[in-house]
Amino acid sequence: MRIRLEHVSKNYGALHAVEDVSLEIPSNEVYGVIGKSGAGKSTLVRLISLLERPDSGEIYYDDKRVDNLPKKELIQERRKIGMIFQNFNLFSSRTALENIEYPMEICHMDRKTSKKKANELLSLVGLEGRGDAPISTLSGGQKQRIAIARALAVDPNILFCDEATSALDPQTTRAILALIKEIQKKMNLTVVMITHQMEVVRDACTRVAVLDQGKIVERGDAREVFANPQTAVTKDFLFNISNMKNSIIRWSNEGGHYTLRFRGLKTQEPIISEVAKATGAVFNIRAAGVNIVSGEEHGIMILDIGPDAETAKSAVDKFEKLGVKVEEEMDGSV
Ligand SMILES: Nc1ncnc2c1ncn2[C@@H]1O[C@H](COP(=O)(O)OP(=O)(O)O)[C@@H](O)[C@H]1O
Ligand SMILES: [Mg+2]
Repeated sequence: MRIRLEHVSKNYGALHAVEDVSLEIPSNEVYGVIGKSGAGKSTLVRLISLLERPDSGEIYYDDKRVDNLPKKELIQERRKIGMIFQNFNLFSSRTALENIEYPMEICHMDRKTSKKKANELLSLVGLEGRGDAPISTLSGGQKQRIAIARALAVDPNILFCDEATSALDPQTTRAILALIKEIQKKMNLTVVMITHQMEVVRDACTRVAVLDQGKIVERGDAREVFANPQTAVTKDFLFNISNMKNSIIRWSNEGGHYTLRFRGLKTQEPIISEVAKATGAVFNIRAAGVNIVSGEEHGIMILDIGPDAETAKSAVDKFEKLGVKVEEEMDGSV
């Protein structure tokens, strides 16, 4: 199912939690929405999933307008949506299997059918045989698997994941993301990943939108956005990505006026020496690293260029001609 938002806004008093957001989320892929804490992500999810009504704007599922439906029809549309959260929201008084059965009980499915289906879902999420486990005995990753199974119990078309991996360690995060991607393909789901973790977008999403102060400031193919970030927010996310931090090596905390961004095979080519030869420029490399984005290598190099401003300028031109993005430092941030 495709989702379309047109000029959607939501205010809490004087606060513009979501402001004039227009967005198209294609069907059958994992779409990322990234933003810092307080950016308006959860509010946006509540609007898209019809838990709250926008103050203005329109929301469409495929070509059907859904934001203004009467209550009964709204509930019908909401059946198409599954959600998982950071804190799992499972019933601690129920077993793992009973949690998965819960939404089917609500729909008055007969007990035998719901039990069979819950068991199938249990093995889909890799927890076969653990149905009788009390929730308190499960690890964070296992709890999220149960939450995923429960979300899938009513055969939704869309799965919303609101900070679904934020409470998990990196290894469990990777396992959960792999499971979500696998389920997306198997069930032809539209998955919307809402997160403040760039790693999640990098490892799971085909497309991404960057939300800042209630507005979408950047969007597109995840690899494109990562290779050529346009806004300070996106650049900040990229620099703070945990794997990037691990793989970026800094020789010096001083200097670093230019940031070069290489994409794909260019990380393998001797571009620096080529530019040095062509322009006579000298380089002082301050930091460098490689990041893998949706299977593509992205290199980053922070350096100074000499011996003079004129040579530096022709070196920058040469880099750009060779397809390397060059950013000049403005205010000390990358
Ligand atoms: N129900 C609410 N009432 C008042 N303010 C809210 C409510 N929900 C969210 N907000 C405010 O809206 C802003 C966006 O919040 P939220 O959507 O939760 O952001 P995020 O999920 O990106 O951290 C925040 O400033 C938050 O305090
Ligand atoms: Mg939130």
